[in-house]
Amino acid sequence: MAKIFVTRSIPGPGLPALHDSSHDVAVNPNDRALTTTELHAGIAGADAVLTQLGDKVDAAFMNAAGPQLRCISNYAVGYNNVDVAEASKRNIVVCNTPGVLTDATADIAWTLLLGVARRASEGDRMIRTNGFEGWTPTMLLGGDLVGKTLAIIGAGRIGYAVAKRATGWDMKLQYVARSAHGDFEALGAERVELDAALRAADYVSLHVPLTDQTRHLIDAARLKLMKPTAYLINTARGPVIDESALVDALKSGTIAGAGLDVYEQEPKVHPGLAECANTLLLPHLGSATIQTRSEMSHLAAQNLLNVLSGSRPLHAVNDDVVTRLGLTA
Ligand code: DGY
Repeated sequence: MAKIFVTRSIPGPGLPALHDSSHDVAVNPNDRALTTTELHAGIAGADAVLTQLGDKVDAAFMNAAGPQLRCISNYAVGYNNVDVAEASKRNIVVCNTPGVLTDATADIAWTLLLGVARRASEGDRMIRTNGFEGWTPTMLLGGDLVGKTLAIIGAGRIGYAVAKRATGWDMKLQYVARSAHGDFEALGAERVELDAALRAADYVSLHVPLTDQTRHLIDAARLKLMKPTAYLINTARGPVIDESALVDALKSGTIAGAGLDVYEQEPKVHPGLAECANTLLLPHLGSATIQTRSEMSHLAAQNLLNVLSGSRPLHAVNDDVVTRLGLTA
């Protein structure tokens, strides 16, 4: 019987599947993230841990769990919170939940894009504060979409799903990626360099993972390349944008607006972002649909149970460890 620790309760079939297994399962009983001390105490002796994207899974975490730790199953597609190299060194399989949250996240990118361009939250606030005094020819004029250029930065599943939706608005598509992607080309998207995309686009949507290379990919210099009428959308990870530089750009009119679902110091949000009327700010809702969270739940639990039973997880981040451990069935 293996010991499993779940760092925070998740909806859907994942927890019942873990409880139905023959393993000893403990779940964080609080409806909040654990402090580092609580987390490290909870995982002590665990063979597998089901983690959240806010958990710092570093060498100290792995030491706290102990040498028997075999699997870290992250309840997210992103795994920038996990030190994968350290886990691989220790033959710990790291798993994630790709695929099932693609459409939900693409829909949130479009919620932000449409919402910020058409000033939906400003309009909503106007109504709620009794500021609507009737239609006027100049009230809350926003940006158009049809025929405009959308640049997708990062050509993975979510970027593609965002691009696909843009065909409904007859937008011109550009994408930024290290190599050509047939699926984007089939949509008529043109592959361009990042700086060229920033200069040309009316809308820029970020879909890169957070790595040392993408941290502050969008900094003050790159924001200055964008058109003053352009909008920046981020549903990837907060630190991809230099948030202070973004606040300056929004306040000075360097760009027209930003729609954000993720933040540099999550859950803290740079106070300047909320001061700007030209932002639409969501609290990391990308995958927040009932069906998506349920599918993530199934994947995260199954990944972990597979590793514990000696079989191949559905989605491992470090496949080299899966092979080395002979988890092939
Ligand atoms: C992920 O899975 O990485 C998302 O950010 C969670 O919504």
